[in-house]
Amino acid sequence: MIEISLTINGEVVQASVEPRLSLVDFLREKQHLTGTHVGCEHGVCGACTVHIDGVSARSCIALAAACDGRDIRTIEGFGDDAQMNALRSEFSKEHALQCGYCTPGMLMTAYDLVTRFPDLDPADIAREMSGNLCRCTGYQGIIRAVENIYAANRAKA
Ligand code: FES
Ligand code: FES
Repeated sequence: MIEISLTINGEVVQASVEPRLSLVDFLREKQHLTGTHVGCEHGVCGACTVHIDGVSARSCIALAAACDGRDIRTIEGFGDDAQMNALRSEFSKEHALQCGYCTPGMLMTAYDLVTRFPDLDPADIAREMSGNLCRCTGYQGIIRAVENIYAANRAKA
């Protein structure tokens, strides 16, 4: 077992983990943060996207033991964050979800884009969101929702 200390959604967490325990399993099974979903477990689908030190990352291919000292944020960690609320609202308005399985990962990726890369054009947005897979929606509503956030943020600037 490996002793780790990390921050999860603003709280310091100390734990003893198996060396090969993935971050997503640690979050879901040991921390009961089940908003982060598991899909492919191969780093392909994006359902498990979280933020590690402020950058979106696949938690199925990150080891919990390697996150010692890191700052982890999950979909549960946004509370009343205005930008996340705006994204949730646009996803709802644009029918950007059906079953919702991909949605936490989509929101985590979209939040990362709008906060770190404020100048993306529609082609960039589509390309950057393409790492998150959705079986239901056909993507158009998802892309529109993210584009709407970019437009709203540009109007405010
Ligand atoms: S479950 Fe992690 S990328 Fe698919
Ligand atoms: S809404 Fe069902 S997988 Fe995206």
